[in-house]
Amino acid sequence: MKTRDWLVNGNGNYELCPSVRPWSLLKDNYRLYRFLTEVEDTINDVEDEYIKLPEIRRLVRKLILNSYWVNSQRFNPKPKNGIAVSLLYEELGFPFTVQTVKFFPGAMSTIHTHGTWGVVGILKGQEKNTFWQRKDSANGQIRLERTGELILLPGDIISFNPDVIHSVEALGDEPTITFNIYGETKMQQRFEFDKNTHTIKRF
Ligand SMILES: [Fe+2]
Repeated sequence: MKTRDWLVNGNGNYELCPSVRPWSLLKDNYRLYRFLTEVEDTINDVEDEYIKLPEIRRLVRKLILNSYWVNSQRFNPKPKNGIAVSLLYEELGFPFTVQTVKFFPGAMSTIHTHGTWGVVGILKGQEKNTFWQRKDSANGQIRLERTGELILLPGDIISFNPDVIHSVEALGDEPTITFNIYGETKMQQRFEFDKNTHTIKRF
């Protein structure tokens, strides 16, 4: 199993970050509610929450290493677009949302932003993350330039600064299952891009 930590920046570039050794994170009874509390404490009173991504990645690794429950979520067998979401925690006014996501083989997301920071841990299968940078043309048309891609395997954790543009595709014959945490979405900064019509829409 891979234990790589990645950080993607708004310009579409990514970097490999130091990763905590798994055996130093083993803990009995480390459950979702402990994780929620530790992440909440980590970003409490922090203005730019994304500066805490290294610590949030560490806590995500701790949770997915220790929680059988998180690793055994069930999903809708016939989801829209081949992507099923199991919402684990969401509360109005709470600063982040936690979910597991299943991509059936061949499923592909749109090119999108989240309007917030995010951390995604690969639990099963593999996925290709493609990164984009916005390079609008002189006449104001929206254009995207592909800046790179990463193939992620179980144990990989990828984190995103708030202005990242990416798309995700499940690779291989097995479903891809991920654990995802996102900060509070700024709706006016969350977009889907249509590469053919050069338009964006909120989602
Ligand atoms: Fe995404």
